[in-house]
Amino acid sequence: MRRPVIAGNWKMHKFIADSVATALALKPLVANANHCEVIIAPVFTAIKSVADRLEGSNIKIAGQDCAPEKKHGAHTGEVAADMLRDAGASYVIVGHSERRQHYAETDTMINRKMHAAIAAGLIPILCIGETLAQREAGIAERVVRGQIEGGLRELTASDLEHIIIAYEPVWAIGTGRTATPEQAQQMHSFIRRVFAEKFDEEASRRLRILYGGSVRPDNIAGLMAQPDIDGALVGGASLEAETFARIVNYDR
Ligand code: G3H
Repeated sequence: MRRPVIAGNWKMHKFIADSVATALALKPLVANANHCEVIIAPVFTAIKSVADRLEGSNIKIAGQDCAPEKKHGAHTGEVAADMLRDAGASYVIVGHSERRQHYAETDTMINRKMHAAIAAGLIPILCIGETLAQREAGIAERVVRGQIEGGLRELTASDLEHIIIAYEPVWAIGTGRTATPEQAQQMHSFIRRVFAEKFDEEASRRLRILYGGSVRPDNIAGLMAQPDIDGALVGGASLEAETFARIVNYDR
């Protein structure tokens, strides 16, 4: 009942020409991927060009971040959620661990971005996950619970229908060290439980929870076989069309 989502986060990679070329190479490779939603998140400057070239295809576009402000105004350097939508995005990644770590994003800031994204009609992909130190200290679940509560504060039941959560343990991002399917499943099932407790049982059954952190063609099927893993947020392995297509077209 939960349609899987395979999303590629290109992070700060690729000029416009390369973004368009990769998207066009991906298009035929995933054209028959009716089992899932396919999303790519190019850099801001490439979104419009990529979206224009993908019009009518089954590949959707995400922004990698958005401004916390809902109204346009004097916010130098920011891109509003509705501007992303205007450029062709229908999703936005919010609260990625790189933004939390390197740009000091707090749950409060991330929560404002969630509200802004939803108000603009974008589907936010809220990223959560513990660091290695937090896992080793035995507080991974407490951290993740705090990120869910903080990130989703004051969203309505109908807002919650539309969001996606991505569990990305920080120690697995770009390190080649993937969480085992069992480790990921354990946290995904915890996230679904917290969501049900805090919000609504029925919505928690519909909530899509993606796993992120060194996902590759050779480990996607094992992850997707877990009952609470509904897709993947892929970084490095999404940069090359054929590799990403192999992840999208995982063995089912
Ligand atoms: O957004 C994607 C994640 O940060 C995962 O990145 O697949 O390169 O580990 P990675």
